Amino acid sequence: MFLSACAEQKNKTSKDPIAQEAKNDAQYRPGFHFTPNQNWMNDPNGMFYLNGTFHLYFQHHPESNVWGPMHWGHATSTDLMNWEEHPIALYPDALGTIFSGSAVIDFENTSGLGTKENPPIVAIYTNHDAEAEKTGSSTYQNQSIAYSTDKGFTWSKYEQNPVVKNPGIKDFRDPKVFWMDSQSKWILSLAAGQEIQYYESKNLLDWTFLSTFGTGIGNHNGVWECPDLFPMKIEGTDSIKWVQLVSINPGGPNGGSATQYFVGDFDGTQFTLDNEFQADLEKNHRFWTDFGRDNYAGVTFSNWKSEKGNPLLLGWMSNWLYATSVPTEQWRSAMTLPRNLELHKIEGRFILKSDLAIKWDAFTTKKTSRSKTKIEGSNTLVEANSLDLQAAKITVELTNLESTRYTFDLENDLGDKLSFGYDHRTQQFFIDRSQSGKVDFSKEFTKQPSTAPRFGDQNSLSIELVLDKASIELFYDAGETVMTEIFFPNAPYQTLRLRSEEKTNTEYSAEFIELNPSKSSE
Ligand code: FRU
Repeated sequence: MFLSACAEQKNKTSKDPIAQEAKNDAQYRPGFHFTPNQNWMNDPNGMFYLNGTFHLYFQHHPESNVWGPMHWGHATSTDLMNWEEHPIALYPDALGTIFSGSAVIDFENTSGLGTKENPPIVAIYTNHDAEAEKTGSSTYQNQSIAYSTDKGFTWSKYEQNPVVKNPGIKDFRDPKVFWMDSQSKWILSLAAGQEIQYYESKNLLDWTFLSTFGTGIGNHNGVWECPDLFPMKIEGTDSIKWVQLVSINPGGPNGGSATQYFVGDFDGTQFTLDNEFQADLEKNHRFWTDFGRDNYAGVTFSNWKSEKGNPLLLGWMSNWLYATSVPTEQWRSAMTLPRNLELHKIEGRFILKSDLAIKWDAFTTKKTSRSKTKIEGSNTLVEANSLDLQAAKITVELTNLESTRYTFDLENDLGDKLSFGYDHRTQQFFIDRSQSGKVDFSKEFTKQPSTAPRFGDQNSLSIELVLDKASIELFYDAGETVMTEIFFPNAPYQTLRLRSEEKTNTEYSAEFIELNPSKSSE
């Protein structure tokens, strides 16, 4: 049911006049978030790191700016800000089109598809057989393998595909694989209907079913997609917990697509929820990696750990509710910035924090700051022409919060306005893009402001936000609550103001950074 609703959305065409095309494309194409040069993109796929290079593959329709027969596009980056697009990595074949999946470096050549001296990169993806789907079959999604012996640039399909056959479940896709060192085996998780299924293998080619997770747990108001399972150290301790990510569409906290997470243990066979996490999940339902409407299908890079030993997550910065009709023509949709995850346990409650994985100093062209200032009525944080809000990172600290609503407004001369902020009375964050510019391409885009509950109730608040032409990524309380959303102003926003609903004694301090993504290579 959900898949057909989703397919309907995916096939809608945009009706924007062609004359607008070039203008919109330049106006909205981000400077440091990945976008395909041409045409349609959705989920990130097969991400891995090797010899100083991050590889990103992506769901791609190379001939249209709406979803269609999926290929894997390919791009690389050495700094996670500048991306170079390469020729298409995987084309549809006799088994179907190429849906989402992952890639691993088979260092020990367990698959025999390369050599130990030149380990193969092995991609595991879903072959989607649209013809079989039309005939009413329920086994049209199967898992297949491709391998590369030139570090991810060219690929061969494995001759005995598929390697995981569909047992009769319509939605059976998005395999994510990792090497479980303690048990010397590969583990694969995939989305199967409303559950996650786990498989094991010694060689990436022969897979044995292990177990399932998810029935009746978490949010089930949509189809489960794009799982990812990984161990994480609880910050400040030596204890390990396993985190299971599950994307869901629709069913997100603000409508449409979003990604939920579960904390528990994985013994090599079965994932079980942690008891404290389970109690909290039943009470609070706040376990989303991002509460904004534009971060979906995010998974982590293979062969990469942050300095703290944590995984790196990157998602698709759009939402199936309106992705196919956003006002860009040449290309459709960008990825989010990559985020280091951290698992915290605060007063018995788990929380997955996100921290942007960018070395900002390398891209900073201008830096100013404002020391503690009282919020009186409306305060101008950025005046017109004082900071380029097309490529900026801003951090604001609010202290001495009072029982009122704090709103930031990004505005241009045309009266377009993106508002976001925090209401200390309800302890909720919000983004309101109802007046943000072009909004009439989809009713879903501005249905209601997005909101997110705050984790604690402390009376100071830190806010970090990144702007890149048509997107905002907001990190509250050092990444405890994240909101990512896209917008399409009729002219660039030029000013940023902060206001409180009532007179308060609240003070703010701020730092403003202007970014130039190509600075590091100058
Ligand atoms: C998620 C998703 C995946 C699927 C892919 C198809 O956005 O629906 O489940 O593999 O997109 O493009």
